[in-house]
Amino acid sequence: MPERLAAMEHAVTVGMGISDEYGYRRLETPIFESTDLFVRGVGDTTDVVSREMYTFADRGGRSLTLRPEGTASTVRAFWESELRQEPLPVRLSYAGPMFRYDRPGRGRYRQFNQFGVEVLGEDEPELDAEVIAVAWRWLRELGVTGTSLQLNSIGDGICRPRYRQALLDFFEPHLAQLDRLDQERLRRNPLRILDSKELASASLLDAAPKTTDFLCDDCRAAFERVLGALDAYGIDYQLNPLLVRGLDYYARTTFEVWHEDLKGAQNSLFGGGRYDGLSQLLGYPPCAGVGFAAGLERVVLLSPPLAARPKPPVWVLGAQLVAAKAVIETAERLRRAGIRVVSDPGRRSLKSKMRSAERGGAALVALVGEDELARGVVALRRLQDGTQVESGLIGLEAAVTSLLAEFP
Ligand code: HAM
Repeated sequence: MPERLAAMEHAVTVGMGISDEYGYRRLETPIFESTDLFVRGVGDTTDVVSREMYTFADRGGRSLTLRPEGTASTVRAFWESELRQEPLPVRLSYAGPMFRYDRPGRGRYRQFNQFGVEVLGEDEPELDAEVIAVAWRWLRELGVTGTSLQLNSIGDGICRPRYRQALLDFFEPHLAQLDRLDQERLRRNPLRILDSKELASASLLDAAPKTTDFLCDDCRAAFERVLGALDAYGIDYQLNPLLVRGLDYYARTTFEVWHEDLKGAQNSLFGGGRYDGLSQLLGYPPCAGVGFAAGLERVVLLSPPLAARPKPPVWVLGAQLVAAKAVIETAERLRRAGIRVVSDPGRRSLKSKMRSAERGGAALVALVGEDELARGVVALRRLQDGTQVESGLIGLEAAVTSLLAEFP
């Protein structure tokens, strides 16, 4: 709807403006892609892939999926375009609709919009802080308050297996307490249990082993650099050792921004992290990456409302159809001068058109009645005080502008 859409577009414009300042360029990936891209990238044990994808066969029998997120597509687009020849890192931004078959609710939709950025080709931890800084500035500029940055490192291929094992060992004696879904999570991908919403696991989670206690030296050093860079940006964070994120491609840094009005990790404003292994999961050469994506509906929900866009101040009305040509020409002339104009050249009487203009929020009407038409002039009537002057076509813009100026 117009007002919501204006707020969403405003959020995107501000986000693109900020990311542009940091050297990011906008790209747009296809709305649907090969199912395989998301299964391999996001991971088939994740909720997104196992339960939430809109997947269909096209007429050629290919399996396609409406994109549930933008990161896998961005990495694919990078490799399949001239971007891969550019100096690294390559900084990209995007905005557009995503699709997940989730239970709809407040701030949770089956078609929703994301704004996100990705940096490809370099694994410097300072870049993790940079994407967070872009996101943070964006929220500040939109006037969103009450947010907290949740930050964690989930380690890499070297230390994560030890952590997985520790989780398995911890939950093993409690298996009977877990519900069926959590038992399944534990069996297929133990880290998934950390974002479980089931009550039984929630009470156990506090006591469960923490990712950050298992980091190898390299991962720990990288995490320290992320924290140092966040300090340099002046961004506060909350360390959250349970934050593993719902997508499989992450390694090392993971983060989410939570809002006090949204409850729990599943209701984050945005999420992101580093995904240095994703490129290889997709069958491409190794390529580091880090980024975030925000749910635009949620961000708009929590932003102060925008001032309503003022309605066009000028309406040009003609006496029935005889004046249609003059009405169209007059309105176009004013628009060329930068004035916003609604024109009504149609069949109705001048009186009924006048009523529409009043209800539609006109400040000034330009009337082309039969008499004006015959004399080649336009009557300009200011609605607020009834002031009326006549103007020929030459000088019309100036006359309109000066009448409008007195009642801003
Ligand atoms: P994600 O956490 O799955 O991450 O989604 C990011 C954001 O999208 C969420 O924080 C939320 O605001 C919004 N979102 C997700 N599902 C819905 C929904 N059903 N309705 C409304 N909003 C929703 C990703 O998508 C990753 N690609 C982020 C990323 C970029 N990681 C690295 N680069």
